[in-house]
Amino acid sequence: MTSTSAKSAQANPARAVRQHALTSRFLGVDFVPIFPEKVPITKQESTAAATSARGGAGGTAVGEVELIPPPRTDWHTVDEKRAAAQKQLDAIRARYEKDQPHAKFVTAHTNIVFGEGDPCARLMFIGEAPGLDEDRTGRPFVGRAGQLLARMIYAMGLSRHEVYIANVLKTRPPNNATPTSEEAAACAPYLYDQIAAVRPEVIVTLGLPASRIILKTEEAMSRMRGKWASWSHPDTKKYPDLTIPVMPTFHPAFLLRQYTQENRNKVWSDLKRVMTKLGLQGRKKG
Ligand code: URA
Repeated sequence: MTSTSAKSAQANPARAVRQHALTSRFLGVDFVPIFPEKVPITKQESTAAATSARGGAGGTAVGEVELIPPPRTDWHTVDEKRAAAQKQLDAIRARYEKDQPHAKFVTAHTNIVFGEGDPCARLMFIGEAPGLDEDRTGRPFVGRAGQLLARMIYAMGLSRHEVYIANVLKTRPPNNATPTSEEAAACAPYLYDQIAAVRPEVIVTLGLPASRIILKTEEAMSRMRGKWASWSHPDTKKYPDLTIPVMPTFHPAFLLRQYTQENRNKVWSDLKRVMTKLGLQGRKKG
C-alpha cells in the first residue's frame, strides 16, 4: 500500500525534496542555517524586549532580535492576566528561595534558574536542569541545547517570549549529572505550582527526567515520546480542573549528541502534533 506522503512525493517530487530539506534544516545544526543569529520579530515584541533587557546577550535592533533574546521583565505591566500570573510565579520563586530544596543535595550552582517566558504562555517546555551557561546567566536553555530549542520554537512559528521555559531542577547538578529521583521529587512541587500559575494549553517535556516526573512513570523515553499524555496538579482540591496535555520528546542535548536524521524527524513530528493542537502554522520559510 502506498502512503499519502509517498503518493504526494510521487505527484510533486520537487516539493517533497524541498519539504524534506526544510524539515531537516529546522532541526539540524550542521546545515546552511535558515535561522540567522538574529530573527525577525514584530515591532511590538522588539520594543518590549529592548526596554526589558536584563542581562542576556547583546543589544536589540528594532525589527529583529537574537535567537535567544534578553528576558522580558515587564510582564507585570503587559495586561492584568499576565500581571496576576507573574505575581504568582514571583511568589513561587520566593518560596523556593526560602525553602532551598536543593540544599539537601550536592549542587554546583551559583545562580537559581527558576524559569522564564510569558507567564500566560500557551506552550510550556520543561527541561531537566541548568547547565553551565544557564548557571552563569540564571536563565534556562541559553547554551548549545538552548540554541537548538530556540530554533525549534522558531520553526513552530513562535519566539522565546511567547513560550514559558522551566526545568525540573532549578540548580545545576555537579558535572551536569542527571537528576536523581529524590532530587526531582524534592523540586517537583515548585514546578507543579509553576505550571499551575502559567496554565499552558500544552506542555512539552524534554527528555527522560522531565517526562518521568510530569507523567509520574518509570517508562523509557522511546515508549513515551510522540504520544499525548496528560498532567494534573497533585493538589486536586486546589486545582480540581487542571489537566494539561503533555507531549514528551527528546531533549535537545540528546539530539545534539545523537544527531541522526531519524531522531530529528521524530522530534519534528512530535512538535508538529503540538502545532496542530495549538493551531500553529509554523514558519513558512527561513
Ligand atoms: N538542559 C536543560 O535540561 N535545561 C537547561 O536549562 C539547559 C540545558
